[in-house]
Amino acid sequence: MVANALNLVDGKRVAVDFLKAHHLLIVGQTGSGKTTTTLSLLDQFQHENQTAIVLDPTGEYAQLPNAVTYTLGENAYLEAGKLSASELQEVLGTQLSPLLTEKLVQAIDALKVQHNLVQRPGCYQKLGQAIDQYQQLLNQLSTWTSEYQIAQLPDQLVEEMVIPFPDSRADYHLLGQVYDYATISRAWTAMMNLRECLSTPYFRRIFDMVPHPGRAKTELSFVLKMFLAHRSSHRTLVIDLSMLKQFESRQGTIISYLLKIILNNRLQKRTAFPVNIVLDEAHRYLSANDQSLSHNGIFQVLREGRKVHLRMILTTQSPLDLPAKMRSQFNTVLIHRLLSVDELTALSTTVPFSTVAGLPTGQAFLQTAGGAQQVVVNTPEWWTD
Ligand SMILES: Nc1ncnc2c1ncn2[C@@H]1O[C@H](COP(=O)(O)OP(=O)(O)O)[C@@H](O)[C@H]1O
Ligand SMILES: [Mg+2]
Repeated sequence: MVANALNLVDGKRVAVDFLKAHHLLIVGQTGSGKTTTTLSLLDQFQHENQTAIVLDPTGEYAQLPNAVTYTLGENAYLEAGKLSASELQEVLGTQLSPLLTEKLVQAIDALKVQHNLVQRPGCYQKLGQAIDQYQQLLNQLSTWTSEYQIAQLPDQLVEEMVIPFPDSRADYHLLGQVYDYATISRAWTAMMNLRECLSTPYFRRIFDMVPHPGRAKTELSFVLKMFLAHRSSHRTLVIDLSMLKQFESRQGTIISYLLKIILNNRLQKRTAFPVNIVLDEAHRYLSANDQSLSHNGIFQVLREGRKVHLRMILTTQSPLDLPAKMRSQFNTVLIHRLLSVDELTALSTTVPFSTVAGLPTGQAFLQTAGGAQQVVVNTPEWWTD
């Protein structure tokens, strides 16, 4: 028996290829059936052996049948070296001054040198080191040598604050001869905050800083790479980010980061099979007046994903929660029950508000370029071998 997620109200089947190369926005008030619709679509993808990835910030999809689940902090971690200094700050929820941000970038490079080239534990001592030798080491770093010991970051920041002697003993061919005590003192509070942050159990687990004998953890970008390279066999990949449930903005950063990995992977490889990416309650990880939308992975996938066969399926309570620029990326919308006429107006549909306001749970309007059709969502009948 082949599952089908949507039927027309007269019982006729709606083929899931209504999605074609389009992203799908699912809107509706709480309890109107958005998550159930998403599950039905996932069920249909499993039956049709279409690849689907669920980014799950709340753990709601942990019980999804036929799921391959990677839980950040449990059996999956992030490699800090793959995050940019600004992404790292966002994930940690810290905001360093421009000077310290610059030092952070340098500290990360120095720790990469220490871990991959010097190959010794601890941090990289800059006192007394010749500039041109260090420069040569930096030139040897490449993308595959991105790993470093993130736990050393606070100590390395201190090592970055070195200067030549302030008198005739100065040797300007060296990275530094004495600590710059004044700068260190000024930055001390911020550096202690960073240290405290990195020592919290959350981040120690996310970045795999704690030893865990006998328990295998996989790096998330590797998981995504594998899943994107091979067609799934009736399985759905779930990335569970619920360990950071209390920190929505940090989850937002990680979601954005993971989506950029997916997009870049596709742009490099040009694999042809389509991949569906699901993000439920997307409004929590976006703001309607986002100034830096072009840096956001959700927006990048919406804008550039279609040409590399990436389809986003986003749900949100109100279309007004999404930035207008993002809303306009959706050609296809499933409109569940809505509470206000403004929300409907934002979707430029011809369906009257009174009809949408009166929709029972589990029914919706499927709005495509060709018009709107009322549909009934069938609950999933999960695929079994
Ligand atoms: N198509 C449907 N058929 C039967 N029950 C449904 C359907 N859609 C939703 N429900 C029920 O309605 C309730 C709310 O649905 P849910 O999908 O969680 O809504 P939302 O995600 O919009 O808050 C759930 O108990 C769910 O089982
Ligand atoms: Mg829901």
